[in-house]
Amino acid sequence: MDRVLIVDDEKGMRDFLSIMLKKEGYAVFAAESAEKAAEPIQRGEFDLIISDISMPGHSGLEVLKQAKMTSPDAPVIMITAYASTESAVEALKLGAYDYIIKPFDVDELKIVIKNALEKRRLENENRILKRELKEKFRLDEMVGDSPRMKEVLELVAKVAPTNSTVLICGESGTGKELVARAVHFASPRHDRPFVSINCGAMPDDLLESELFGHARGSFTGAVTAKKGLFEVADGGTIFLDEIGDTTPAMQIKLLRVLQERRIRRVGGTEETEVNVRVLAATNQDLDQMVREKRFREDLYYRINVIQIKMPALREKREDIPKLALHFLVKYGRVTGKKITRIGEEAMRRLMDHDWPGNVRELENVIERAVALETTDAITAESLSREVRAVPRAAQEFPATLSDTGIDLERQLERLREHFMEEALRRAHGVQTKAAELLGMSFRSFRYFAKKYHLLDGRRDAQRASAG
Ligand SMILES: Nc1ncnc2c1ncn2[C@@H]1O[C@H](COP(=O)(O)OP(=O)(O)OP(=O)(O)O)[C@@H](O)[C@H]1O
Ligand SMILES: [Mg+2]
Repeated sequence: MDRVLIVDDEKGMRDFLSIMLKKEGYAVFAAESAEKAAEPIQRGEFDLIISDISMPGHSGLEVLKQAKMTSPDAPVIMITAYASTESAVEALKLGAYDYIIKPFDVDELKIVIKNALEKRRLENENRILKRELKEKFRLDEMVGDSPRMKEVLELVAKVAPTNSTVLICGESGTGKELVARAVHFASPRHDRPFVSINCGAMPDDLLESELFGHARGSFTGAVTAKKGLFEVADGGTIFLDEIGDTTPAMQIKLLRVLQERRIRRVGGTEETEVNVRVLAATNQDLDQMVREKRFREDLYYRINVIQIKMPALREKREDIPKLALHFLVKYGRVTGKKITRIGEEAMRRLMDHDWPGNVRELENVIERAVALETTDAITAESLSREVRAVPRAAQEFPATLSDTGIDLERQLERLREHFMEEALRRAHGVQTKAAELLGMSFRSFRYFAKKYHLLDGRRDAQRASAG
């Protein structure tokens, strides 16, 4: 229901407009002077304001100025007598939506109000749509068909249509935010806002006013009233990122909203009901934090209704080629470079790397490689050092025989590969020297180097600099 404020010193006019507008289905509030209207306007509670221009004390122009300052997106309609059309023009200059001359035609006023609210709605929707359009494109970017990823996507499809609170856990860079967006855009709320906030990134008072909004003057610097993100997300979804980083004081406040689905602006007096779906994410072990009393247990139960656990990239290595190619295309487009493949050796390194930074790290590595590459394929040389260095396999040689046994031949191969790699690096790529370091003959070094593709990257790089 749209909330309309009427400001007029004549009681007859206030009553007449109130009755008429209530019949039209608006929630109507009335004030008898600019002074009396000031406070509720500051709180930013109205969708539209109608004000008489000439009133004793402050004129309607003051109402207008105040409204423009504190709730700039609420249209203001001025009512004026014939005699003062000049101030009506002045009002338009100050940002009034329109003015109506007394005595006015009721139907005309109804239409002006309707149009004003419609325009406001369209502008709001436009803003939301523009932002969401961008976000939707990101959603199509969800790549991966490993069993772990399939599990995640199935769970997303299952929980999306519900209103359940979802907790998304996983290491940094595993795609938690991507999944949160996926849940929102696959939900009935998809055409309403998706609002994301990093709860760990700011001090409590700032976070509180971001989440719940504030009344004008509630703290130094609060020159205008402001809607909180819970209100902005009304009808849609709010994504509380890094919820594990919130302070105990903030946790209580979040718990209250989740229980009551009502919010109060900082420094405000009234509570507003909000219809918002809550998604939360963390890269911390909340279970553990609860045990250590660093995270409220009651809040944990509120948010942990359904949990989606994002696999680390090293747990879904089979997705690496697809992801790498996906980013190759993405950054190829960005840079305008025509790099179509990832070289065999480079891909092997990508598959072997441990990816502590997960998909984000992979994305950065490919972005960098695309920038550096001069051939039509990503070579091992353009990968960053960490990826190029010791292959993952080399770090994991079993030192003891496990119950299930080991494949000794395979382990010996890995060991040889590891030391050859290392020797080549120390010898700055000079094979005879590397072979010497390992007490190998040059012939056998060359044979195995070829077998393990240890020279691929270098060869590519030479070709690149030659061409
Ligand atoms: N399955 C995927 N397909 C394509 N891109 C992905 C995938 N998973 C993650 N990404 C990309 O990796 C980057 C990191 O993802 P996202 O920001 O969602 O991770 P996060 O878990 O929220 O990380 P952090 O904990 O650091 O905030 C983004 O650019 C995202 O688009
Ligand atoms: Mg994130």
